[in-house]
Amino acid sequence: MASGNLMERAQALDRDDPLSSLQAEFNIPTRAQIASSRLPESSSVSQSSSSDTADTDVTASSEPSTYLCGNSLGLQPKRTRTRIAQYLDTWATQGVQGHFKPLDGSPLPTWLDADQRAAELIAPIVGASESEVAVMQTLTANLHLLMSSFYRPDINGKHKILLESRAFPSDHFAVETQLRHHGLSPETSMVVIETPHSEDNVLTTYDILSTISAHAATTALILLPGIQYYTGQLLDIPVITAYAHKHDIFIIWDLAHAVGNVPLSLHSWDVDAAAWCSYKYLNGGPGCIGGLFVHERNSTVTKAITDDKPAEGYSNRLAGWWGNDKKTRFAMANKFHPVSGASGFQLSNPSILDITSLNASLEIFQLAGGIKQLREKSLKLTAFLEKLLGEMKEEDKALFRIITPLDPQQRGAQLSIKLSEGLLLPVMTELEANGVIVDERKPDVIRVAPAPLYNSFVDCVKFIAAFSLALEAGRKAKGSKGTSS
Ligand SMILES: Cc1ncc(COP(=O)(O)O)c(C=O)c1O
Repeated sequence: MASGNLMERAQALDRDDPLSSLQAEFNIPTRAQIASSRLPESSSVSQSSSSDTADTDVTASSEPSTYLCGNSLGLQPKRTRTRIAQYLDTWATQGVQGHFKPLDGSPLPTWLDADQRAAELIAPIVGASESEVAVMQTLTANLHLLMSSFYRPDINGKHKILLESRAFPSDHFAVETQLRHHGLSPETSMVVIETPHSEDNVLTTYDILSTISAHAATTALILLPGIQYYTGQLLDIPVITAYAHKHDIFIIWDLAHAVGNVPLSLHSWDVDAAAWCSYKYLNGGPGCIGGLFVHERNSTVTKAITDDKPAEGYSNRLAGWWGNDKKTRFAMANKFHPVSGASGFQLSNPSILDITSLNASLEIFQLAGGIKQLREKSLKLTAFLEKLLGEMKEEDKALFRIITPLDPQQRGAQLSIKLSEGLLLPVMTELEANGVIVDERKPDVIRVAPAPLYNSFVDCVKFIAAFSLALEAGRKAKGSKGTSS
């Protein structure tokens, strides 16, 4: 298909897209900005696209880049700057009063209520009740906190933790160190789920369930990703959760790549617990505050806490004052009485700077009408990208293949593309030179994620044009026609 027709087709799809106006809510870096290594002088980056263009091609300066990297770091919502300025003004003018004094005309909650407001906004995105969600800490820290509560090894019985062999390294480290923390050895207590049926490490539900079966009698806990970071594969969370429960195993889901990307129904899927970060599809900003889900059955506080039985009446945990019941939090009594629900797992007073940033982005999820509407667009966008990849020239297609499952129900926004050996560097270099930002996973995978909040069908066409040039550059760099990997 001629590229002109393709562009017209994409433009027509964008015109028909009921969510296309949301793109204007985001700062899309210009091509000049991503090429520049100088911090713009102006603080109003969102208004100025040419302040840092002196040494770059003027024709390309104000053209937006093609940013397809929301799987790694979501773009900055324009309202983030506004909300953070309002937060700073509150702090500047109210000092400590900002904790509890509502201000007329402020869209921000008092700082004491900021975490609650974030939980209200995130609950529908993960399919939970507000009390099952807490916005706190960061992902790896939250995985540790959840394991410290719910991993109760019995060396003569259930002591193993199951995880996938290609788990994100931080998850591996968390599991290994939890085991050592309990005096156990990863060699005997850690089981990794292999992918014998796939050369690209795509898991099958069968691989997972059969590993669970094989270790059912000795497994205490499972940690799995909702969406696998490398392949972009969406696992069957409800089926795997039910199977774990059938074998009396507690299961924790790492939702780093799933939250804000695909609809989740954590409560009705009966998930035990989960944790996520907010800097990918939730656009909270680099390293922004994370979140966790604890099913209500795992977080009830059933009895008054008494001096002689201080830990009775609630599940065990590593505690801090912010998990204490709000009514008595400031009584300063040294008797921990957690609030029922996920917020009873909080430790410290949270960073309001972070929560303000996160909430700014979550406002846009509301504008979108929710995660289901976003998923509808996402399915179309990613299918469009897949189709365009399939329509590329044969000599291009010989140099890559998609390793993400082709079934749309088994993936989110991301497509992981495996390149022929030796192409990663020239391809990434050429993509960047053409204003395209994706991310790489060595040795040979690029991850391309059209995020439905700010990406368009036109972005997909621009990616394909740049990808074709990049593969051409790769062929030249290798000095041969190249062969399929
Ligand atoms: C799947 C997965 N797990 C864990 C992490 C670690 O997250 P954090 O640095 O927020 O703890 C990441 C980070 O990208 C991730 O993608």
